Amino acid sequence: MKQILHIISSPRTEVSASRKLGNSVIEKIQEKYPGSIVKERDLTKNLIPLLEEIHINTFFSPAESHSPEQQLINTYSENLISELQESDIIVIDSPMYNFSVPATLRAYFDFTSRAGYTFKYDENGPQGLLNDKKLYIAFTSGNIYSEGPYQVYDSNVPYIKNVFGFYGVKDVSVFRAEGLAIPGVMESSLQKAIESILID
Ligand SMILES: Cc1cc2nc3c(=O)[nH]c(=O)nc-3n(C[C@H](O)[C@H](O)[C@H](O)COP(=O)(O)O)c2cc1C
Repeated sequence: MKQILHIISSPRTEVSASRKLGNSVIEKIQEKYPGSIVKERDLTKNLIPLLEEIHINTFFSPAESHSPEQQLINTYSENLISELQESDIIVIDSPMYNFSVPATLRAYFDFTSRAGYTFKYDENGPQGLLNDKKLYIAFTSGNIYSEGPYQVYDSNVPYIKNVFGFYGVKDVSVFRAEGLAIPGVMESSLQKAIESILID
C-alpha cells in the first residue's frame, strides 16, 4: 500500500490528454499496490497565487515574526509541502503550454520550493529533503520533443526533473504522449504512451 500524490495541471477536463495519461499511471500503480491511497492536488482548482512580495518575505523570514496574513500564507505553503512529504509516490500530469509547464504548476513550485522544507543548503551545497520517493511524469505535447529537430525545445520534462532532483527525488520515470497535433502520429500517440506505462 502506497500513499500517492496526483498533481494535475491541465485546465481541460474530459478531453485532457495529460489527465488521461496521468490517470492511467495512477491505475497501474494501484494495480501494483492494491489499497493505495490517492490524494489529488488539482492545480486548476483553488489557484495558487503568483508570487508577490509578501509571499517572498514570508518564505524568507522566521515564523515567529509573521503577521496574521503571513501566518496564513505560511500555513498554506506548509500544507502543500506536507502533501509531498507524506507521499511515497508522486504523479505529475504536465502538458506543454507555450514551451513550458502550465503556469499553475510553476506557481506550485514557487510555493513548495522552500529552504528547510524541500531542500536545505549546507557546506556541500544544496541538499534535497524529500528523499526515498518515486516520481512519475505524464507529459503530453502537440509536437515531438524526445527526439528529432525539436529536441532542443524539450523544456518540461528536464525542468520538472530538475525541480524534483533539487528536492531530493531522483527516482523518476517519464511517459510521453507526443505529437498530439501531428496527423499520422496524433491518432495513436496517447494509446501508445498508456501501453508503455511500467510501474517499477
Ligand atoms: C494553451 C496551449 C498551449 C500549447 N503550447 C504548446 C507548445 O508550446 N508546444 C507543443 O508541442 N504543444 C503545445 N500545445 C499542445 C498541448 O501540449 C497538447 O495538446 C497537450 O496534449 C495538452 O494537454 P491537455 O489536453 O492535458 O491540456 C498547447 C496547447 C494549448 C491548449
